[in-house]
Amino acid sequence: MNKSLRIPLIAMLLIGCFSIMGCKQNKYTLGKLESQRINNKVATLLAQMTLEEKIGQMTQVRHFYDIGKGDVAAKNLGSAIHTQGPLPGKNAAEWQAKFTELQKEALSTRLGIPLLFGVDAVHGQNTYNGATIFPHNIGMGAAANLELAEEAARITALESQACGFNWVFAPCVAIPLNEKWGRFYEAYAEDAQLTTDLTKAYINGLQRHLNDSTTVLATAKHYIGDGATDYGIEGGSSSIANHEMMKRLIDPYKMAVQQGAGAVMTSFNTIDGLPMHAHKALITDTLKNKLGFDGIVISDWKGYSRFGQAAIINAGIDMVMAVDGDLGLFQNGLKKAVEENRVPMSRIDDAVTRILRQKYRLGLFKNPFPAKSLTTAIGIPEHRAVARQAVRESLVLLKNEDNILPLNKAASKIVVVGAHANNSGYQSGGWTINWQGSKTSYNGATTILDGIKQVAQGTVIYDSLGQGSHPDADAVIIVVGETPYAEFFGDIGDGKGKHQLTLSDSQQHYISHYASQGLKVVTVLVSGRPLVVNKQLAQSQAFVAAWLPGSEGDGIAQVLFGEYDFKGKLPHSWPKSITDYNNKFGPNYWDNSITPLFPFGYGLTYRPQDK
Ligand code: BGC
Repeated sequence: MNKSLRIPLIAMLLIGCFSIMGCKQNKYTLGKLESQRINNKVATLLAQMTLEEKIGQMTQVRHFYDIGKGDVAAKNLGSAIHTQGPLPGKNAAEWQAKFTELQKEALSTRLGIPLLFGVDAVHGQNTYNGATIFPHNIGMGAAANLELAEEAARITALESQACGFNWVFAPCVAIPLNEKWGRFYEAYAEDAQLTTDLTKAYINGLQRHLNDSTTVLATAKHYIGDGATDYGIEGGSSSIANHEMMKRLIDPYKMAVQQGAGAVMTSFNTIDGLPMHAHKALITDTLKNKLGFDGIVISDWKGYSRFGQAAIINAGIDMVMAVDGDLGLFQNGLKKAVEENRVPMSRIDDAVTRILRQKYRLGLFKNPFPAKSLTTAIGIPEHRAVARQAVRESLVLLKNEDNILPLNKAASKIVVVGAHANNSGYQSGGWTINWQGSKTSYNGATTILDGIKQVAQGTVIYDSLGQGSHPDADAVIIVVGETPYAEFFGDIGDGKGKHQLTLSDSQQHYISHYASQGLKVVTVLVSGRPLVVNKQLAQSQAFVAAWLPGSEGDGIAQVLFGEYDFKGKLPHSWPKSITDYNNKFGPNYWDNSITPLFPFGYGLTYRPQDK
């Protein structure tokens, strides 16, 4: 083939590849000209950078501990994270002020490259006490309302910016294959299509055009197979076959790439015996080259210390999270690896190009500081109204014998039972105020009991311990569930630990106790995963899966008392037996080897045609 023929052919192939890869422009991604303009600026800046400055950009630190005064400038840092640990201040204005101070330091450097500030805002800006907290993703999967998901993400971005952040480590786009996984609730659904649709909505809501101070970079996580480990062990190994992975798990990432997601976070699990952090074939060859991802690949927490810094950078990781107390060690180690040709300079340049590209896309060079005016938007009624709608739409009605629901608002006596009814910390799960969640109620939230009291017109009695006797009650609403957990703390493993796939004995007793009094029992289950509750289903006239609804607990009463109908549908098949979980991948509903108690998509409504 001669040269003149070869060039148009290559161009055609490239265009073809791009559309196959799904890199087409969508309503929120940048146009070609704008991308070109940014790429030129990045190239100009990169050409001026020393190796130390480049490695600095690849370093993300915690804002409070890893850095001493002057480190942002002296170590050329690229990003700071806030997650568990000391707060940046007493209120949002102080948080902003703290990040503004660090940003000024970054801007005072020779090249004045601004910092990215990242946060785990996974269901609202949940690290701030007083923010609007949405249902965890499992509830958003049950609601399956794409406009609502986009709106929830838009509000999360705005409240994150109000706290000084321009990057969030969400959405989690895992497809969990085993309920024993402690992060089950962080994922939308067992279904790849639903997860992919919600991924699109969520990334669009967070990033939009990335051109004003209310938007943030999104992160699709954890790439890949986080929810597909054998026996649901967080960070464990996965024996899922490569073709199954490509069939069941990759689509949300393809969508994230297509929507221009700013970042992808690698996962702690191992695939084919290789830690994902060091998996060049999946990170560089598949995600970057084949799918065309041009954003930042960020490691998970301290990934470098677990898997080796040269190994993870060579695999394709661009920024390393939480360089924890050993900033010098990390930076000098990487510098030495480059000098000894163990990490090629081209890899460093690729990483820094990606980081700078996102900083330009976000408009950070022009607009590096958070807008002060946004602080008054945190937790406002308009935001809470959207979260409340999400709560209502996430509820799945599993049983409604004799149409006991909706309850009559004019009933003279309603008894509400259980600690989960009156604790917004419990109803919100992990990643709420604290990493492991909160065991007490938090600012601005409404508990399920508060909501019932607002809607019911008669007497509402609260029995926190489930031991009362109320023969004259019109109905008993028993709220039971899991206590908050996050990451490996929520793993079930062999079932002998803190969490189990069924209710605790005392909670089972609440239901038996009231059912044996011949009362109408409505059970509301607050949990991050389906639990095996066959007996409790039989003992209850009505049974609602409420997932982890977040701050607007009153959304539950609005549906129980008929102000709204049920809309939620099961985002996961519901198990019928704990022995279903004996397999590595839990109940393999997708290969029909186990019959669920309720199938994916199940959910009753008040409308007669749906009964
Ligand atoms: C989690 C990530 C999270 C990160 C930062 C890790 O342990 O796996 O999901 O974004 O910590 O808090």
